[in-house]
Amino acid sequence: MTPLDLPGPRSAATLERLRAVLYPGIGEHLAPFVLDRKSGSTLVDLDGNEYVDCASASASVPLGAAREDLIGPLVDALRRYGNEDGHAIASDLALPLAERLISLTPASLTRVAYALNGTEAIETAVKLMRRATGRPIVIGFLGGYHGETTTTAALGAEENEISAGLRALVPGFAHVPYPNPYRSPFAPPRPGGSGDATVDYIRDHLLFHAIDPAEVAGVVIEPVLGSGGCVAPSAEFWTALTELCHEHGWLLCVDEVKTGLGRSGHLFAVERWGIEPDLMCLGKALGGGVAPIAAVLGSERALGSFDDVPTGSTWSWLPWACAAASATLDLFEREPVLENVRALEAVGRKKLDALAERHPQIGEVRAVGAFQAIELVRDRASKERDRELQDATWAEAVRRGVFTDSSSTSLNIQPSLLMDPGEYGAALDTIGEALAAAIAVLGR
Ligand SMILES: Cc1ncc(COP(=O)(O)O)c(C=O)c1O
Repeated sequence: MTPLDLPGPRSAATLERLRAVLYPGIGEHLAPFVLDRKSGSTLVDLDGNEYVDCASASASVPLGAAREDLIGPLVDALRRYGNEDGHAIASDLALPLAERLISLTPASLTRVAYALNGTEAIETAVKLMRRATGRPIVIGFLGGYHGETTTTAALGAEENEISAGLRALVPGFAHVPYPNPYRSPFAPPRPGGSGDATVDYIRDHLLFHAIDPAEVAGVVIEPVLGSGGCVAPSAEFWTALTELCHEHGWLLCVDEVKTGLGRSGHLFAVERWGIEPDLMCLGKALGGGVAPIAAVLGSERALGSFDDVPTGSTWSWLPWACAAASATLDLFEREPVLENVRALEAVGRKKLDALAERHPQIGEVRAVGAFQAIELVRDRASKERDRELQDATWAEAVRRGVFTDSSSTSLNIQPSLLMDPGEYGAALDTIGEALAAAIAVLGR
């Protein structure tokens, strides 16, 4: 197709008026079109232009847009209950959801706390970890993203602008590099060590020089790095990390807000390694893309042995959001979602590997289920990041009708878990054309 001139006139007029009234931190980051409607994996803008959705609303719309089989139960529940604060009055829709989440997640998790969204789930998890252990320090990972409120921005460390102005105000977090083989600052693990260089670093350096392990409540980690670029740690890392946690009585909290419910090719990414965490945070996909709902799951120690930590907020686990979440879980049982995710992974591996062979500007391509990423560099040897080329590729892809997500480190591609693999392959071909165009425009 001939690349679109964006924004079209109707989108341009709306964007101009929006930017005049919006906080610039939102206005300046908007896509160059205004959404008119969505259906399946198609976005349609005010000017009638169509885009294949390969962002899925930051992975919060897992199974295509506005599905009637999710909206139906939601509307029924809204008619029956209106809104109600689940902390004050329980609805009969909370129980089946809570029981089902406990039965689907690893056996270590026996309790649920309500949350409205991923950010609130992580905030809550951090409070619970400190309360359950009586210890102040939580270890996070450089590259990890957990939200943008004060606590979650300080726990996360995807890119420094997220926590700018906050870091110094929020003590109680220490960070170590995410176990990213492409950008590891470490030599291979030392003989006689933990078997993993990141965990050796925690043991040999962080704990030896700086932090008494008895002050640490635990670690919070994305099982597959999400916004930070789709990186899956090794099995050795997980073994070494869980041993470290057991040794010191630390809680292992996995942030499955993005990976949860199928995106990794497993219902939960921890299944890939058989990890039994102490806490798990869910959000995004849990509401099926039609309702905001999130959850903190925990072991008896992390979530069942005290009752004095306030959790959630007025709108967390509204009855209609519970109905949407239960309908979403039904849908995972009814439709071959995970099989399709594996097919999308296979398509991605093939197409992205071929793209990397064609373009030396690609440092690495990654595919974990329906979450895939292209990391662009100025030079393969130095691995200097090329954010300019990444953003230009994103923009050229939008002009060619494919919408992705340009994050801090990589072009992230996250289609609907049910996208037809053929359609996905065609979208990846378009992204390849966009990259070639961006390389030409920037003279890379
Ligand atoms: C891994 C992870 N944790 C937490 C969050 C915060 O979730 P939300 O923005 O839905 O509150 C996100 C959002 O992108 C995320 O990717």
